[in-house]
Amino acid sequence: MTSAARPDKHSPTGLAFATQMVHAGNTIDSATGALRTPVVMANSYALPEDPSKVSWSGALPGLYTRNTGTNQQGLEEKLAVLEHGEAAVALASGVAALHAVYFTLLKTGDHVVVANVTYEAVHRLFTELLPEKYGITATFVDASDLDAVRAAIRPETRLVHIETVANPTTLVTDVAAIAAIAHAAGALLSIDNTFTPPPLFRPLDHGADLVVHSLTKYINGHGDAMGGAVIGSEALIRRLKLDAMVDVGGVISPFNA
Ligand SMILES: Cc1ncc(COP(=O)(O)O)c(C=O)c1O
Repeated sequence: MTSAARPDKHSPTGLAFATQMVHAGNTIDSATGALRTPVVMANSYALPEDPSKVSWSGALPGLYTRNTGTNQQGLEEKLAVLEHGEAAVALASGVAALHAVYFTLLKTGDHVVVANVTYEAVHRLFTELLPEKYGITATFVDASDLDAVRAAIRPETRLVHIETVANPTTLVTDVAAIAAIAHAAGALLSIDNTFTPPPLFRPLDHGADLVVHSLTKYINGHGDAMGGAVIGSEALIRRLKLDAMVDVGGVISPFNA
């Protein structure tokens, strides 16, 4: 039996990974009876009888596609199940997902420990854009050297960001050990898991707080759509949705979702 066909002990329903890949987040369409959620291209949904109670800065589905579209919702549910997270937010690209993590969690004066091999946009964000525009500083370390990670932590470190298997050098990091270092310092650990999507590796099972994916790569698999996602606890993902999705706006299109 392949690992994809084995029942997944983390799944509330005990369904195998391969079954969850197909069924998680999918709903039978009540209007047509279609067994697969149709692509809902609408940007707006019917408002309730009393629209005065609607929160336009909330992240509930069934309102406006920037506040969570139907297909985005299905994709988020699927990704949360597959990565063993409580919730997910799907965005327009992997870089939008990385930016959502930094924009939401960091403020002026904060410090970040970043692996010295990461996707190039992360490097520019932490060497130029975030320091120059927002006064957020970063120390780059060899993430395979735990002493170097420990030594880079400062009192104002709020985040450690690494890649499970780094792009492009394929450097492998000890996620559980780095999670322990980050948490001992009161910082969160975010991991770009684009290279090793489930069932290969699930960073949340090893102590990471947030998992980032460029959905554009292995998860899409066909090279025909852009997307990004962050998966984690309900509380952290809610913060990302409210700050970086609703009010910055880089949502995934229904068709790509
Ligand atoms: C590891 C990794 N993270 C993030 C990204 C950025 O993703 P996107 O191109 O979807 O913005 C890439 C793209 O190559 C990547 O390889």
